[in-house]
Amino acid sequence: MSYITRPATPFLDQRPGTSGLRKRVDVFQQPGYLDNFVQALFDVLPDAGGKTLVVGGDGRYFNRVAIQIILRMAAAKGYARVLVGRDGILSTPALSAVIRRRGASGGIVLSASHNPGGADGDFGIKYNIANGGPAPEAVTEAIYRRSRDISMIHAVEAADLPLDSLGTHHLLHTRIEIIDPVADYAEVLRGLFDFDAIRGLFQRGFRLRLDTMWAVGGPYARTLLEGELGAPPGTVVHGQSLEDFGGLHPDPNPANAIDLIEHLRAPDAPDMGAATDGDADRNMIVGRNFVVSPSDSLAVLAAHATRIPGYKAGLAGVARSMPTSTAIDRVARKLGIACYETPTGWKYFGNLLDAGKVTLCGEESYGTGSDHIREKDGLWAVLFWLNLIAVTGESVESLVRSLWREHGRCVYSRHDYEGIPTDQADALMRDLRSSLPRWKGQVLAGEPVIIADDFSYTDPTDGSTSERQGVRIVLQGGSRVVFRLSGTGTQGATLRIYLEHHEPDPARHDLPAQEALAPLVAVAEHVARVKHWTGMSAPSVMT
Ligand code: G1P
Ligand code: ZN
Repeated sequence: MSYITRPATPFLDQRPGTSGLRKRVDVFQQPGYLDNFVQALFDVLPDAGGKTLVVGGDGRYFNRVAIQIILRMAAAKGYARVLVGRDGILSTPALSAVIRRRGASGGIVLSASHNPGGADGDFGIKYNIANGGPAPEAVTEAIYRRSRDISMIHAVEAADLPLDSLGTHHLLHTRIEIIDPVADYAEVLRGLFDFDAIRGLFQRGFRLRLDTMWAVGGPYARTLLEGELGAPPGTVVHGQSLEDFGGLHPDPNPANAIDLIEHLRAPDAPDMGAATDGDADRNMIVGRNFVVSPSDSLAVLAAHATRIPGYKAGLAGVARSMPTSTAIDRVARKLGIACYETPTGWKYFGNLLDAGKVTLCGEESYGTGSDHIREKDGLWAVLFWLNLIAVTGESVESLVRSLWREHGRCVYSRHDYEGIPTDQADALMRDLRSSLPRWKGQVLAGEPVIIADDFSYTDPTDGSTSERQGVRIVLQGGSRVVFRLSGTGTQGATLRIYLEHHEPDPARHDLPAQEALAPLVAVAEHVARVKHWTGMSAPSVMT
């Protein structure tokens, strides 16, 4: 075994987006493509002597190949120890837990989250720092700059390591430990929830259908729910972790998890449904014939947090991404705690969590989490709901309805326009930005516009500023329309339009969301001229 250095030609398109570098698998399969990015990462990181790196992914196609490349390069970088999940598997939340529990200096997550997998699908790579969370923008930008002038790749020459059983190997001076992918994570959850109460719920016949969408959540959910918590076998469906997610789009929303929605609509529906995504950090919660919006889910968890052992001391504060509904703001006001508004992407929550300013946080994109790790956490959210149902005796629907009764309903929807040619999407956003001064004070949907701006965020802990994080049109009554381009897609551009309307009148809480939001949809078209710029007259997906 020896060190080798190979010349490299840089790739110029390796700028990480909302959540790491995501590209189609065939892009990653180009010789040297992954190596180039990993070398850029290692060049940006300080000396690795004495340090531990964690590596794992959601098991999608190319995961195993990528891990072997990374291990050979990590040994050349000089890590003392690399921890790898068995079979190369670590869900994103589990990887975060391992970094924190084992005192690692960082970790590499191999995932394209909810994007489809398989040879024709997507792949992704993301670096997480010592707190267990995604590297902040300053680090990802440094990696990008470095990736553009890599000239040498450093690795060790060695055969592939067996990843399929627990054990220890050596690559020159680096100890490679193959670890149980579930153990550390399970231990963290045991410390937060009342497992006996949840066990009691299942003993009393409570029925859950948890759809892990043929993705990495399966092994975790089976071990914890069907194993430890006594949920009947069959509670976890699509539970095997497959390289191509069985051809499904592992994104837990009503459009992609249609099978789950139908089961929860059936006459013999289980009491609760839930789904997790490709890397098990997202979650969708469904009651009997009742879909919970992610923003409402976050607000319900915050409102009742003190009933859960891990949060009984109360919440320091909460945070949501800017486009996420203001339901949580209303709960925070009542609890007398701060509510922070950050740009889209989990990386912005890290500093607030580290500083102890917030305990719970979440996004409208089916992401919820807390200070137990530094990633959003799908199974955590499911256990939180189960624990809550066990101690309150209420149903999913009644918990959400009490939230609405107390604070009004934040009617919410996101409209995605996918596959827009990039130049057209950029032109739309440019035009929209330049039109902003025109809207302030105008009456739209019957109300004056009080804010028309491009969201900018200054981190209260380190003063770093992130600009151009989404165009907002806010009306006097608080209704809003937000526009931004996705930073996780791999084909063309995706325009996301977020719509929120606050409805205090309980008599109107059952109006279908799309109907209640129709005036705001018209506002969106009026200010952004979506049809003109994209040629599309309807969104590709509404959630
Ligand atoms: C999307 C979501 C965002 C989430 C990210 C990673 O990013 O909108 O909330 O943090 O995926 O899961 P986007 O494609 O909008 O940039
Ligand atoms: Zn994900």
